[in-house]
Amino acid sequence: MRILSGVKATGRPHLGNYFGAIAQFIDLQTKGEGFYFVADLHALDLVRDAETMREYALGVALDYMALGLDPEHSTLFMQSDVPEVSELMWILGTVTPMGQLQRAHGYKDAVAKEKEVDFGLFAYPVLMAADILLYRSAVVPVGKDQLQHLELTRDLAVKFNLTYCPDFDPQTGEGGVLKLPDAHIMENVAVVPGTDGRKMSKSYDNTIQLFAPDKQIKKSIMRIVTDSTPVEDPKDPEACNVFALLKLFCDEAELADVAERYRAGGTGYGEFKKLLLEKFHATFDEARARRAELAKDEASVREVLARGAARASAVGREVLLDVQKACGLR
Ligand code: ADP
Ligand code: TRP
Repeated sequence: MRILSGVKATGRPHLGNYFGAIAQFIDLQTKGEGFYFVADLHALDLVRDAETMREYALGVALDYMALGLDPEHSTLFMQSDVPEVSELMWILGTVTPMGQLQRAHGYKDAVAKEKEVDFGLFAYPVLMAADILLYRSAVVPVGKDQLQHLELTRDLAVKFNLTYCPDFDPQTGEGGVLKLPDAHIMENVAVVPGTDGRKMSKSYDNTIQLFAPDKQIKKSIMRIVTDSTPVEDPKDPEACNVFALLKLFCDEAELADVAERYRAGGTGYGEFKKLLLEKFHATFDEARARRAELAKDEASVREVLARGAARASAVGREVLLDVQKACGLR
């Protein structure tokens, strides 16, 4: 069973990325054959500076390895190192209805915000479908926001197979050249709130980054917005952003204890922020140290990526050839 997922190289990872996506697919790596890649082609749409692109792309590889992705068990590679994905994207594009792309969240949001929309943004979901289908992925762990893309991927696989594979049975998914993937969504992962209470996101500048320097982490946590309830008064944990973030780190008993302290009064929000800071370090310091070490040895990270690309290419070339034959390009 092949498990595949990717992370866009558009910035530095934060708690939302970790709990909402990266943690779950790192957990899955032992359940099958893992293919994990850095979506650098997808990032081009947002990152328009060569040096920044190189930093972010290598950065995602470092993040993966520091957070526990084991290159001995999984295939770790750079999306653009397997150019077959771009050809498959084109082929899939020829069976993609415009209407379906016009309904895609990313495109609709950009239009609603009156942003200038380019073809890259419009075609984003088709490239993502190619990422998944090129490696005959069985399971694709992603955050809830990516479910629509997974549905499109399945639709395109069905459409291609129906068009070109006489033996394809859409009921069973058998007999086609493209394999229908399943999404793996962790339903219990809530949206991680940012320091201002909105969804944590790079675009809102409200993140707590995983690998920022200690000082910056502290600053991010201390700036979490809370209400003005005086220290001595009882507080409602469920209405507090700090508590919402503590939920990610504490087990049930510990959380009940913290909630009790909120309700009892006498403890200021600053104390709960300190607890959050401690939890953050206890959880991530090992990965933070590992990342700093890995960053000193770029050559060996590049080597891991080269090995991964060779492995991914071997699979991708075969699938692309089947696709080319099915539609008469070979
Ligand atoms: P950002 O909003 O910071 O640009 P991305 O869109 O690059 O983040 O997110 C990458 C993945 O991380 C998403 O597919 C989603 O699953 C997950 N993710 C991002 N932000 C959050 C969040 N606040 N809560 C839960 N998951 C998130
Ligand atoms: N679109 C995904 C995101 O924004 C990243 C991604 C690109 C991806 N290609 C993929 C995820 C293929 C899973 C499978 O998070």
